[in-house]
Amino acid sequence: MAPTSPRKILVTSALPYANAPLHLGHMLEQVQTDIWVRFQKSRGHDCLYVCADDAHGTAIMLAAEKQGITPEQHIATIHANHLRDSERFGIDFANFHSTHSEENRYWSEEIYRRLKSNGHIASRAITQAFDPEKKLFLADRFIKGTCPHCKTPDQYGDNCEACGATYTPAELIDPVSAISGATPVEKDSIHFFFRLPEFESMLRQWLDSDTLQPQVANKLREWTEAGLQEWDISRDAPYFGFEIPGEPGKYFYVWLDAPIGYIASFQNYCARTGHPFEAYWQPGSDTELYHFIGKDIINFHGLFWPAMLHSAGLRTPTAVFAHGFLTVNGTKMSKSRGTFINADTYLEHLDAEYLRYYFAAKLSAAVDDIDLNLEDFVQRVNSDVVGKIVNIASRCAGFLAKGFGNRLSPECAEPRLLEEFIASGDAIASLYEQREFNKAMREVVALADRANQYIDEKKPWLLAKDESCSAEVHAVCSVGVNLFRVLMTYLKPVLPAMAGKAESFLNCRLDWTELQAALLDHQLGTFEPLLTRIDSKQVAAMVEASKQASPTPAPVAPVAPAAKPDMDNTIAFEDFAKVDLRIAEIVAAELVDGADKLLRLTLSLGDSEKQVLAGIRSAYQPADLVGKLTVMVANLAPRKMRFGVSEGMVLAAGPGGKDLFLLEPHAGARAGMQVK
Ligand code: MSP
Ligand code: ZN
Repeated sequence: MAPTSPRKILVTSALPYANAPLHLGHMLEQVQTDIWVRFQKSRGHDCLYVCADDAHGTAIMLAAEKQGITPEQHIATIHANHLRDSERFGIDFANFHSTHSEENRYWSEEIYRRLKSNGHIASRAITQAFDPEKKLFLADRFIKGTCPHCKTPDQYGDNCEACGATYTPAELIDPVSAISGATPVEKDSIHFFFRLPEFESMLRQWLDSDTLQPQVANKLREWTEAGLQEWDISRDAPYFGFEIPGEPGKYFYVWLDAPIGYIASFQNYCARTGHPFEAYWQPGSDTELYHFIGKDIINFHGLFWPAMLHSAGLRTPTAVFAHGFLTVNGTKMSKSRGTFINADTYLEHLDAEYLRYYFAAKLSAAVDDIDLNLEDFVQRVNSDVVGKIVNIASRCAGFLAKGFGNRLSPECAEPRLLEEFIASGDAIASLYEQREFNKAMREVVALADRANQYIDEKKPWLLAKDESCSAEVHAVCSVGVNLFRVLMTYLKPVLPAMAGKAESFLNCRLDWTELQAALLDHQLGTFEPLLTRIDSKQVAAMVEASKQASPTPAPVAPVAPAAKPDMDNTIAFEDFAKVDLRIAEIVAAELVDGADKLLRLTLSLGDSEKQVLAGIRSAYQPADLVGKLTVMVANLAPRKMRFGVSEGMVLAAGPGGKDLFLLEPHAGARAGMQVK
């Protein structure tokens, strides 16, 4: 249904640090944000997604120094690299700016002045570790030493990787600067603080206002209950950032100006496009502001940021949406296992839309971690997207092209079925709105099952053999295409590139607001393959490539050639000639625990035996199989399946289900014979 009046929505995702390439954890966040934004746009809202690089801080300064370039050069290279990777993942930024920008300098200084004139900035001397060689104050993570608890050497200043103890850098035994190796000395300097405790009651209200997810609000309440502390917002030179007005040699801490980067990026967008800016930042604004972030940075967005905005007389966010962390194969991404996967490495091997779909199928509104299980990834995408969604179109397209000039029939033969698909749109839309993408995907896939079931029942491939049934073939395939159109409209926020191809085939725009009218007597474009299956070799090659940077590189497997388009299922004669087909006698057959479609067969080839897991349980009782003959592929490499190893494949014929036939023993046939 069309919205009554478009909402004005500004959306951000966290600003990635400009010190390393984007990895799949970043992409989880950007894809989540992008799906939500594209969904809002498809519903007719005015929704803008801005982001930027977080370009300041000691780490970035040191990284540039190490390469012998200026920090500005360094962040420019990373900016181009981040933007390119995001774009290739289909992330539809209105603007991707930088915190090292004039807009951000302006707003950081302005907000600081407002906080200061409100009495919300304090200053006092603190004592810190100082590198006497580099003339640099050292944050905890730049100090190394021996763990005071387990005595493991070479541990970072705040926690021990060996025993997990946490401590202060002063407790480390033999501490050294991780930058120069010098022994740190203690030194005093003046720091500036944001007086967070002043905002206690404002923050308590904010935490109770349903602006945050319950889990996040609970976590942050622990902070308010423990007593809020003043927040150190300054760093001493040398530092890459903005100097604090009127305080030479003092810089804004990177986390002070980072969220202000949201405002700066949006202002830069507005200046370029003429979009109104001010209205979005006034308290009581009728616009909406949402921040998508990871669970590790909720204190910055859920406490410091709203308090700063409040003091500066700016609006606070409508909501902050935190997500969990991406794990790969059940554990933290790891370089040595090849599961620390950069966005760029992924894209060298796989299509971005596979991962967009997989993330959508797993994401919810909760803050739980999301696991990318690489086997499940292949299976899920192939089965849902290629096997179910794309399949609807590809089953109908051929008949429509061949017999009907790619023109859809003038009437809808199944108005009720189509109506049901369209009526599901409201529920699916509300799931998208609530960020319950996994449930939305489940609904869409269930509808795809219905569409395929409809085509299975009508069997256009059989009808097409009988000329008198031509009108019915036309009707069935036209219904199929209409159902496909509805589903692709629902999936467009997740699969924008595939939706683009579907739009060319359907010769119409896929628009949520346009669904009411069916496509009747409508001319289609040419059907091109929409998305091909993932070959698990592509995934293996990606994992190998991700191991390269690891300290202990594993042997590298040859890179798999790109997968063939799904439509092309021919094999070369040379390939066929390699298949060793033999008559095999089933000497034993048994049920497989936990598998309702499989039987475990022991096959005799005369001089040898093989064990095969065969999906023929619906047709045969195990006992009835013993003594029967089958044709088997005898030289198939053994495959480890979920229920055991299978050493070959049996061939059976028939329409399936209960009607699946093996050979009856015959006087001339004997196990081991070659099939010619
Ligand atoms: N620069 C800060 C954010 C400033 S926002 C004003 C930052 N940068 S980051 O590059 O470390 O992370 C950017 C975003 O990616 C954060 O929201 C972070 O939670 C998210 N992720 C980083 N690694 C992640 C995973 N492994 N999984 C999911 N999200 C992760 O923090
Ligand atoms: Zn230890």
